[in-house]
Amino acid sequence: MRSLTVEPGIPDSLRLEEFQIPSADRGSVLVRAVALGVCGTDREIIAGEYGAAPPGHKRLIIGHESLGVVEEAPKDSKLRAGDMVVGIVRHPDPVPCANCAVGEWDMCRNGRYTEHGIKSLDGFGSEFWRIEPSFVVPGTAKLGLAGVLTEPTSVVAKAWEHCERIGQRARWQPRSVLVTGAGPVGLLAALLGKQRGLEVHVFDLASEGPKPDIVRDLGATYCNGSFDSVPGDFDVIIECTGAPTVIAEVLNRSTADGLVCLLGVSESGGVRSVDLGSLNREVVLDNRVIFGSVNANRRHYEAAIAALANADRDWLHRLITKRVPVDRWKDAFVRHPDDIKTVVLFDTKAVGLD
Ligand code: BGC
Repeated sequence: MRSLTVEPGIPDSLRLEEFQIPSADRGSVLVRAVALGVCGTDREIIAGEYGAAPPGHKRLIIGHESLGVVEEAPKDSKLRAGDMVVGIVRHPDPVPCANCAVGEWDMCRNGRYTEHGIKSLDGFGSEFWRIEPSFVVPGTAKLGLAGVLTEPTSVVAKAWEHCERIGQRARWQPRSVLVTGAGPVGLLAALLGKQRGLEVHVFDLASEGPKPDIVRDLGATYCNGSFDSVPGDFDVIIECTGAPTVIAEVLNRSTADGLVCLLGVSESGGVRSVDLGSLNREVVLDNRVIFGSVNANRRHYEAAIAALANADRDWLHRLITKRVPVDRWKDAFVRHPDDIKTVVLFDTKAVGLD
């Protein structure tokens, strides 16, 4: 089988390698890959800035946004050969901490979790991958290729779930949402905002390309260029750019009792002076909340599949702006300004693309 591997910590070490199909000790479910989504985390790993190989190995099979078909599964599992599935990225820490012990590994307290394709566990960027049944999520067949959006949607579903849980500390009647960044995560956050019947604004730098129309066709308002184009304050802000200049702006734009959910991962550095005195005064006097959110547990994957199933299928497919057959894998990692989601295709027949 062919697998995309990197040597973590070494820039540009990505290559396609030939391996034996892993044995059942790596997981009793064998999955044949259909597609793999590429995201900013993969690019960071390829740049040598993030990621860790499995213990005792130099190289890591990358990829965490999966879509595949079950090839073999244990009889006592609910999975059957031919099921279209995705793999859960994070596995609980070995201690386990209080959260990992109850399946809330997205909230791991000791940092010893592992993540497929990211941290100490081989990923899904491979013609075949193995996993245990409890980390397999079925139910994506009706989504076609859009099933590959399940993992980024699970991250967004968790962010929304946490907004709602925090919001319920008092009477929770949000009306308006601002999403910053019209990449895949931002657009999916906007989708889940619309599905909740909210008024959604999306801010992004792009004035051209597919993003403005995709946002408008969702029934949301697109604001671009300078942050001054964003009108007023918002009950919920979901920050997906990780850009310090945008973060500095959104911190002042939530309503009283409002929430800012930070979902974009930043590099260190950036804006150096923020008036923390004024920010603290506003946050305290207005009961505002600023919180971070990462990853997802099984409940969020299931919520993601439900959200994708309720979305317009054509709209979802428009987010997948680049489809690259695995033979041309190098093209998948060259970034163009209009790209939203790039997908590496391992099997075009399974999602009806032939
Ligand atoms: C993935 C998450 C993961 C995070 C940090 C993101 O790109 O979607 O599942 O937890 O990176 O490693």
